[in-house]
Amino acid sequence: MFITFEGIDGSGKSTQARALADHLRKAGREVVLTREPGGSPGAEEIRRLVLEGDPDRWSPETEILLFTAARRDHLERTIGPALAAGQVVISDRFADSTRMYQGLARPDLGGTVDRLHDQMIGVEPDLTFLIDMNPALGLARALGRQGSEERFEDMGEALQSRMRAGFLALAAAHPGRFRVIDGARPPEVVAAEVASIADAALARR
Ligand code: ADP
Ligand code: TYD
Repeated sequence: MFITFEGIDGSGKSTQARALADHLRKAGREVVLTREPGGSPGAEEIRRLVLEGDPDRWSPETEILLFTAARRDHLERTIGPALAAGQVVISDRFADSTRMYQGLARPDLGGTVDRLHDQMIGVEPDLTFLIDMNPALGLARALGRQGSEERFEDMGEALQSRMRAGFLALAAAHPGRFRVIDGARPPEVVAAEVASIADAALARR
């Protein structure tokens, strides 16, 4: 089973992906916890190229290609083999992030993002948790962290609001795999809801 976490920066995806991995491992399942951009040695190298440095470093077109190249390597080397071995894969972000971040930056490139995904990736998660929250709260949490991966984090609240609306629209368009989770609650409360949804989905398989 392939599970992803999506949402705006600072919404708690990494925290929840870790908590779900711990929960499923305690229940005896083999879990691969991974992330994008990254998740394989080659894709982690690409991560540094896209997340560090000057915001104008790449054109929107090049950026879409870099994220897609990283995803292809992640799929070939990490996700695909783990799923083939019957493991549960939990990824902190996947293709929905490209649809949102690159698609919102350049709406005219939305079709290109979709075609590249179909040609080069062609895989959707079985279950996607959208950790939803007020962008002001997400931004405050994201800025509370220190780091060099800041190319996308100075987007500001207006863009984060559009991002939130875009994610909610994407979830509404794919109700079969998306579950929208209220992320503005204590982490253990969010984790309990996520765990019960994942347990039920795994039990049905
Ligand atoms: P994301 O991966 O979505 O950017 P993180 O899981 O890294 O988010 O969380 C961002 C920050 O907010 C971290 O400092 C984390 O400890 C904190 N955090 C995560 N979930 C919650 C929560 N439910 N309530 C309060 N703080 C949280
Ligand atoms: P991430 O490390 O998940 O950041 P955060 O923990 O702050 O949510 O992702 C880094 C940034 O990369 C994030 O701002 C979103 C961006 N991103 C894209 O623009 N396109 C993509 O396809 C992916 C996977 C991430």
